[in-house]
Amino acid sequence: MSTFPTKTLPSGDELPVVGYGTWDIGDEQLEEGLRTALDAGYTHVDTAEGYHNENVIGDVLAEYDRDEVFLTSKVLPKHLNYESLIAACEDSLARLGTDYLDLYLIHWPNPAISLRESLDAMATLHDRGLIKNIGVSNFSRYQLSTAHHISDVPIAVNQIEFHPWLQRPELVEFCRETDTVVEAAAPLARTEIFEDDVVSDLAEKYDRSVAQIVLKWALEQGVVALPKSSSPAHVQENIDLFDWDLDDADLDALTDRDRGHAVYDTRERDWTGDVYGIER
Ligand SMILES: NC(=O)c1ccc[n+]([C@@H]2O[C@H](COP(=O)([O-])OP(=O)(O)OC[C@H]3O[C@@H](n4cnc5c(N)ncnc54)[C@H](OP(=O)(O)O)[C@@H]3O)[C@@H](O)[C@H]2O)c1
Repeated sequence: MSTFPTKTLPSGDELPVVGYGTWDIGDEQLEEGLRTALDAGYTHVDTAEGYHNENVIGDVLAEYDRDEVFLTSKVLPKHLNYESLIAACEDSLARLGTDYLDLYLIHWPNPAISLRESLDAMATLHDRGLIKNIGVSNFSRYQLSTAHHISDVPIAVNQIEFHPWLQRPELVEFCRETDTVVEAAAPLARTEIFEDDVVSDLAEKYDRSVAQIVLKWALEQGVVALPKSSSPAHVQENIDLFDWDLDDADLDALTDRDRGHAVYDTRERDWTGDVYGIER
């Protein structure tokens, strides 16, 4: 399916180790960015119903061979009841103009809705062939452990915030132990990490961009990276990662930068908003 290095999921499907992130890009920039990505060799696209862009992605994907793209979407926490989850997936498929997703994720855990109910709905979608693999996102070790314990279908992925400033070693180790691929959301820490002197010094040393240094480090940690860019030049740069290496000492220097700093997963929730919609 792809010339990219991949991770093999429990289903046997191959997940390309770099995906094009699509959160919060204007429609025109997303069209251009996605075409640039697919033309440059990306074979993995990450979206979500909560990004409100699936129709734009669907229009662009219609110009390409669907089977060459590993397509992920996510269901919002407010749609995690059985019937809502089924309907949310069907709506995502319609907007994306496809009859299957390669991966469908629970976008955030929702403590107000039974995880067993949500995973039963995931299993139904899987049985119907609408989703090839299932996973979760922003799950803690405890939540992921529960999901593995009760799911009929293997939990293939946990998509979490991950970059040198937020490495979450215990959670990542638990993912490894449970054969759960870690996908790095916000792998560039939304550019905050570009101000780190260690990163900029390495960029100079290797004559690479700061983004490339951070993404290369992530791949060397065994995770899948999902950089987002609206700039065609950056999109190209973000997959130019495979014919050069960082020395072990430099990888270690980046690993030493962990400071537990989250750019989005701050664990603050608006329970009544568009994402959760939990009413009293
Ligand atoms: N599951 C979740 O809850 C969750 C949460 C967050 C993110 N995600 C996923 O992860 C993806 C990426 O996360 P993110 O969008 O939050 O942030 P990110 O990828 O860490 O950072 C995006 C920022 O980096 C810049 N950038 C990208 N490539 C660059 C390069 N080569 N040189 C310089 N700047 C560069 C972009 O600007 P330009 O546009 O100018 O390049 C943009 O400002 C999302 O799009 C989404 O798919 C998932």
